[in-house]
Amino acid sequence: MIVVSNRVSVPKAAGAAGAQGGLAVALNSALREHGGIWFGWSGQETEEFTGHLDMQRNDGITTATIDLEPQDIEEYYNGYANRTLWPLFHYRIDLTEYDRNFGEGYERVNARFADSVLPLIEEEDLVWVHDYHLLPLGSQLREKGVKNRMGLFLHTPWPPTRLLVSLPFHERLVASMLEYDVLGFQNTEWLESFLHYVQKEMGLKVNLDNSIEYQGRRVIARAFPIGIDFREFTEAAQGAEAREAHDRLKSSVRGRKILIGVDRLDYSKGLGERFEAFGRFLADNPQDAGKAVLLQIAPPSRGDVASYQQIREDLERKTGHINGAHADVAFVPIRYVNQGYPRAQLAGFYRAADIGLVTPLRDGMNLVAKEYIAAQDPENPGVLILSQFAGAAHQLKDALQVNPHSTEHVAETIRKALDMPLAERRDRHAKLLASVRENDVQRWREDFVKALVGKNAVRTGTT
Ligand code: G6P
Repeated sequence: MIVVSNRVSVPKAAGAAGAQGGLAVALNSALREHGGIWFGWSGQETEEFTGHLDMQRNDGITTATIDLEPQDIEEYYNGYANRTLWPLFHYRIDLTEYDRNFGEGYERVNARFADSVLPLIEEEDLVWVHDYHLLPLGSQLREKGVKNRMGLFLHTPWPPTRLLVSLPFHERLVASMLEYDVLGFQNTEWLESFLHYVQKEMGLKVNLDNSIEYQGRRVIARAFPIGIDFREFTEAAQGAEAREAHDRLKSSVRGRKILIGVDRLDYSKGLGERFEAFGRFLADNPQDAGKAVLLQIAPPSRGDVASYQQIREDLERKTGHINGAHADVAFVPIRYVNQGYPRAQLAGFYRAADIGLVTPLRDGMNLVAKEYIAAQDPENPGVLILSQFAGAAHQLKDALQVNPHSTEHVAETIRKALDMPLAERRDRHAKLLASVRENDVQRWREDFVKALVGKNAVRTGTT
């Protein structure tokens, strides 16, 4: 198995986890158990691209990485991936930038990825590509003669057709994706948007099993909701490091209720709206002022992109404003922390928290919601408040689901969560836990690989 993603990150080799997204966490688990090579960008820059492969073995995983030139990083990673596709795929057409150089850089780097990974691919290998950075990689590899089975899994949402058509050359981009044998999405909502596009914009036939007829081939398109490594995470949650983190946080709040949010510092996560809702809760419940703390862990991400600098400034202002209004000499209501923590410590923080506040405006899945559930004490569990716009909302029906745009609704739901009787908390948690346990990362991997192996494992034709 050759796994390809933009970012390759093995947490134990890199020390404490920083702003790791769900992709890195899931791929680590999937590869550690089953082997294979993980290929991608090292995160480093080089004066001139050479295609040199740095092969390493860390924590049971073989990685092969390349360095990119500054212009590549600017046009492909900061540019097309994070100024064009990311905002567009998260329905933020207002933040989406269309720049011809970005598109060219994206094609160029995908071609460089294809050239560099090519020598690693052996005849029977499956090639599994991840995320929006590498949508055309499959077609680039086909052009170089690769006949192996290849699949793409998109970790983000797929936007509605009406938004996608604002992207110049959208049809070329989608056509390049149809060179894969399997296209995987986080849930049926994004899958349906994709199928709608290929039918309406490209006039393609979609079969009853959702496969797409394209140039004499059948492309499988399906939802494969990603999960967490349930066993590893629950074990971590019971270990000494988690317990210490739990106790440290608990004792620091002196009996107050704890609400927790853990997100990369990204405008899609709805952090500003969350802070406002918490401020509203404090204003509406003066009897509770000083009795609840929001711990928001938000490691910075993509700091070279202006919209990320902007969200960072906005949040600093909002935190200051709300803390100024509700703090006391010995107490601040929002603890806003711009750093990442090792996963075992996060597990301890989750367990200490009475409420998990997961309120993205749009999110492919959101594994924090699942980790929060897995980390709870089943005898006395906390309550998950979950945005209806997170992919996870399709599965986690027993969370308290909210519209993150509605300050009132989220504030009222915080009240409801704090007042929830123990029996209801246990009941909801048991159902959520069963879903998180069953739909774990191993199942995601197995389902995808099964679809990728397919019945006709040998591809015919010349390219
Ligand atoms: C999301 C994306 C991943 C990405 C991660 C972290 O989870 O789906 O592809 O790796 O964010 O973002 P970064 O830009 O730091 O890799």
